[in-house]
Amino acid sequence: MKISKLLIGLFAGAISLAAYAQQPIVIKFSHVVANDTPKGKAAEMFAKKAAELTKGKVKVEVYANSTLYKDKEEMEALQLGAVQMLAPSLAKFGPLGVKEFEVFDLPFIFSDYDALRRVTNGAVGKQLLAKLEPKGIRGLGYWDNGFKSFSLNSPIKSPADLKGKKLRIQSSKVLEEEIRSVGGLPQVMAFSEVYQALQTGVVDGTENPISNLYTQKMHEVQKHLTITDHGYLGYAVIVNKKFWDGLPADVRAQLEDAMEQATRYANQIAKVENEASLEAVKKSGKTTVYVPTKEERLAFKKAMMPVHQKMEGRIGKEVIQNVYKDTGFKPDAL
Ligand code: LMR
Repeated sequence: MKISKLLIGLFAGAISLAAYAQQPIVIKFSHVVANDTPKGKAAEMFAKKAAELTKGKVKVEVYANSTLYKDKEEMEALQLGAVQMLAPSLAKFGPLGVKEFEVFDLPFIFSDYDALRRVTNGAVGKQLLAKLEPKGIRGLGYWDNGFKSFSLNSPIKSPADLKGKKLRIQSSKVLEEEIRSVGGLPQVMAFSEVYQALQTGVVDGTENPISNLYTQKMHEVQKHLTITDHGYLGYAVIVNKKFWDGLPADVRAQLEDAMEQATRYANQIAKVENEASLEAVKKSGKTTVYVPTKEERLAFKKAMMPVHQKMEGRIGKEVIQNVYKDTGFKPDAL
């Protein structure tokens, strides 16, 4: 009797152990934008590739639109291990203490995606990701969004049109200086709160790549949008280092493969997604889209250029110079 009970117990134990062994490893991937944005789509692609390549051993759960955490909280959640993966904008690493990342926020520092890519694919890109390690974070790669434009309820043709305007920005000292350089009043605010702040007039305007503006419906509460393309917004995909290092080596290699594919996809679709969003904004008829002349854009660049020098102490002169070298930066031309 006793022996058969023992056998039954052992058998049940073996079954539950086997069931446990088959439980997938869950990766919670939190982000703050909509699903139908470059980042949202790339996150979904990573989830799909991860499931395929690990043959179901890994399940990536994507939480879009700040459903789990807002901007600042998500970084803390990653460090604590409450989520395993994020793709915060590069502007969000300054508050973490890795101020060099704010080089990406310098106005007009990248003339196009190619110039940006030379930095993210080169030594500077690697060095910056390595600076995350002491924070318990591993950087896996860079995903594009695009170039930011200003929106307001009044027309924007020159820097003077931004004077005295309350403009929402991400939490970056460089972006604060950028807004001050044109006489605006920078207002740091979480991404998930921007639509309401624009709607209620808590802020007058903001800066965004058009895919973010459109998918958050900000164009419905902003009468004017000017394609200033005055700065870059992109992401670093990051994981909790302890979690990542603790994965079985074969699974980690499969996930690295999935990430490589998702990264290629992200950087292929970003420009097209932003162009499609711009067309959709135009079609909505809710906001007037203005494309500045070359001279008008140059006036924005001239007004904002002092930010580069002013922020040298914070970002580091060498980082800025290295980026200039990679991009062939010209302070006086577009
Ligand atoms: C923002 O806060 O404006 C952006 O970082 C949102 C995003 O992730 O694209």
